Amino acid sequence: MPAQTHISKLTLTNFRNYATLTIDLAPGAVVFSGDNGAGKTNLLEAISLLTPGRGLRRAPYADVAREGGDGGFALHVRLDGPDGQVEIGTGISGGDNPGEGGRRVRINGASARSAEDMLEWLRVVWLTPAMDALFTGPAADRRRFLDRLVLAIDPGHGQRAIDYEKAMRSRNRLLTDGSRDDRWFDAIETQMAETGVAIAAARAEMVRLLAAMIDRLPDTGPFPQADIGLSGDLEAAVSSTPAVDVEESFRRTLADGRDRDCAAGRTLEGPHRSDLVVRHRPKAMPAELCSTGEQKALLVGIVLSHARLTGEMSGMTPIMLLDEIAAHLDGGRRAALFSILEELNCQVFMTGTDAAFFSSLKGRAQFLTVDHGTVGPTI
Ligand SMILES: Nc1ncnc2c1ncn2[C@@H]1O[C@H](COP(=O)(O)OP(=O)(O)OP(=O)(O)O)[C@@H](O)[C@H]1O
Ligand SMILES: [Mg+2]
Repeated sequence: MPAQTHISKLTLTNFRNYATLTIDLAPGAVVFSGDNGAGKTNLLEAISLLTPGRGLRRAPYADVAREGGDGGFALHVRLDGPDGQVEIGTGISGGDNPGEGGRRVRINGASARSAEDMLEWLRVVWLTPAMDALFTGPAADRRRFLDRLVLAIDPGHGQRAIDYEKAMRSRNRLLTDGSRDDRWFDAIETQMAETGVAIAAARAEMVRLLAAMIDRLPDTGPFPQADIGLSGDLEAAVSSTPAVDVEESFRRTLADGRDRDCAAGRTLEGPHRSDLVVRHRPKAMPAELCSTGEQKALLVGIVLSHARLTGEMSGMTPIMLLDEIAAHLDGGRRAALFSILEELNCQVFMTGTDAAFFSSLKGRAQFLTVDHGTVGPTI
């Protein structure tokens, strides 16, 4: 079993509705309860910024900075992991030009080269109510979910996605400018083919590993097994064809598609159009046709299997953020979730308007009450 990584202390400055806050945190389960608008999700959002990207709300950093503050925000954690303690801080600067220089990351007091460096120390995964529409909503949301799953087991994935997007933006610019500069197109498309195939291969590998992990869920348990797959030409090709050949064929597809893409004003084929396909195995139903509760249980099963996979692949237990998790689950599923979480040995942050949802965890979790920008022990 991987060694536990957990946050033992969290400090916030000008973060959403918190002017300043310092809390000591226990390993294992931490329950934040409090009224609507108290600041529970804000705490999870803060922790979600300990991984590359814009966090679980995908909010612009300017929105994260506390209204009435100096335009900046900061968060700082002390992390206890297999290699001892590490201090990680991140935020944006305030003052005359708030946010200047983007989000900064410091690890043990030294500036990190990029947010990716945090992946050396911890993995953060989350499940929020906004993800309830994952199976019925737009493919872009599922792709983002998929790429976050990949990132947790393959830290190079973030940079790949950035490089591909950048190359595609350049190509789209050429297309909308009506450029005929074939050499420029060739150079960009070669880059897109290289990064695009690497993205597809990493996704296919993650899905293969995750599917094997999902098979280890009990087939009659409270969280049904999901059949997961990918729809996308590159993802289909990489599993049966050597990557260099797929690259070459994608490069040719792009070159041959210039006129069509020019008419559309954008690149119509590539891993930016792929999708994650999920089916409810016991019911033999596409996930999007399942009931709300069934979809939630399916998603919880995927996230738990992924947490286990992340632990095995990275050697670090991921820190899990489960926003309003109890509200959607019946008592039996709740108890099952808590016992799986204990078995995973993860630090897990859960929120709810009522601590009573978590009463079966009494004595086994840290209970904290959130009250308009303050946090204290639940009594
Ligand atoms: N930049 C900001 N500055 C100050 N306050 C903010 C900022 N952004 C959001 N807030 C406030 O933070 C409060 C708490 O939000 P949060 O989403 O964490 O509540 P919650 O406890 O999760 O509530 P719910 O139970 O409804 O989900 C909201 O009242 C919101 O107005
Ligand atoms: Mg909330």
